Amino acid sequence: MANRVVIGSQWGDEGKAKVVDFLTLSADVIVRFQGGANAGHTVKVADQEFIFHLIPAGIMHHDKVCVIGNGVVLDPIQTLKEIDDLRTKGISPDGRLMIANNAHVVLPWHSAVDKLKEEKAGKAAIGTTGRGIGPCYSDKVNRIGVRVGDLLDEKELRPRVEAMAKVHNEEFAALYGAPAIDADQVIADYLELGRKIAPYVKDVSEFLYAELKAGKRLIFEGAQGTILDVDQGTYPFVTSSNTVAGYASCGAGVGPTAINQVVGVVKAYTTRVGNGPFPTELHCETGDCLRKIGNEYGATTGRNRRCGWFDAPVVRKAVVVNGLTHLAITKLDVLDSFDEIQVCTHYECDGEILDLIPNQLSKVGRCKPIYKAFPGWMQDTTGCRSWDDLPENAKRYLKFLSELVDVKIGMVSVGASREQSIIVDMD
Ligand code: GDP
Ligand code: IMO
Ligand code: MG
Repeated sequence: MANRVVIGSQWGDEGKAKVVDFLTLSADVIVRFQGGANAGHTVKVADQEFIFHLIPAGIMHHDKVCVIGNGVVLDPIQTLKEIDDLRTKGISPDGRLMIANNAHVVLPWHSAVDKLKEEKAGKAAIGTTGRGIGPCYSDKVNRIGVRVGDLLDEKELRPRVEAMAKVHNEEFAALYGAPAIDADQVIADYLELGRKIAPYVKDVSEFLYAELKAGKRLIFEGAQGTILDVDQGTYPFVTSSNTVAGYASCGAGVGPTAINQVVGVVKAYTTRVGNGPFPTELHCETGDCLRKIGNEYGATTGRNRRCGWFDAPVVRKAVVVNGLTHLAITKLDVLDSFDEIQVCTHYECDGEILDLIPNQLSKVGRCKPIYKAFPGWMQDTTGCRSWDDLPENAKRYLKFLSELVDVKIGMVSVGASREQSIIVDMD
């Protein structure tokens, strides 16, 4: 039985949490390995909907262990909110939630810088979630960050926070005319938060190593999507972490040999939230229809998601940089009422035909999608539970997508609920 990485293959919000929740049925441990509370991961079980920002979606299964790895940037306030929310809904994370003691902590300076920078950038703004993700990762790499383990010991925390405060408060005054944040207050607040999360804080790599040795099955739950990856995406309109499958190893603290399947989650169409190029974006009624039917509003910020047709050059890029072994195609049902569906097979750019979305931003802006039209199926698929239940045209559409990117379909999702899942070839 495989250890799987489940990653987004477009611009995020592909339905990763739905897929992780479903695949968790045959796993033991679920690990988030990057990103932070910029993620919004929705799971629907029975009539209850949960939106997780930090806690892995697998927590919905009472007998599974969930881990927040070192590659995540952790907002302890948000983490505790999610823990409380779970408890009020009758789900206890006690004894089965672990937080890496070497994950970095998002502090008040980070969300403040995030917002100030975006305001100042005006039209050039990235459209971030304002959750302090970029500034926290910057401090990590700049070696002035605070780690989760530091919250448990004032002797560790105080000098680090004071050093960080100096850098950011000077930056606030010099660049933004913004008031300083009081380091003593932050130290007091975060020691208190540290006391609350202490029962969950561990050396998680040691734990994961032992689980792997014992033959336990792991799922690594990605956040964001490949085209938001800081190296592989539409830089600088990206997030500040590596979202690709390879980072699961770094961000969980396990060796790459622990991973043997890479499931790329793709919507049956495409969405993007935030700014930056999006070649198949539809600025017309069809785009509005996809948004309405697909309920395409951000799970973290509530913003409208930009919508467009399926974009093969985007997904091919995901195949190339992640080594996808399976596709999990979600939200097929959203296309049920379209009599014609378009698929972008390639781009035309500067007289060339491109298979993959290019790395240079200006070139992406010049890419013109080449479309192939498909007849819709005009039938409700939300009740389909097997490949054979699907309408013929839906099967043709799915097969075409799989052939276009040369990866087999592992599963198809036809609704937000756990049972609205069709296993196709998920060995
Ligand atoms: P994630 O960030 O990749 O986990 O995705 P989000 O939770 O941000 O967005 C996906 C949305 O689509 C959520 O509201 C899910 O409940 C919903 N969803 C997931 N799979 C399906 C599906 O197959 N059909 C429909 N209609 N909704 C789905
Ligand atoms: P999930 O895990 C979609 C986008 C933001 C912005 C860019 C940078 O739910 O798929 P950041 O706050 O990360 O610095 O913002 O990345 N973004 C996401 N878009 N889904 C997400 O997460 C996202 N997380 C960040 O909208 O364009
Ligand atoms: Mg999301």
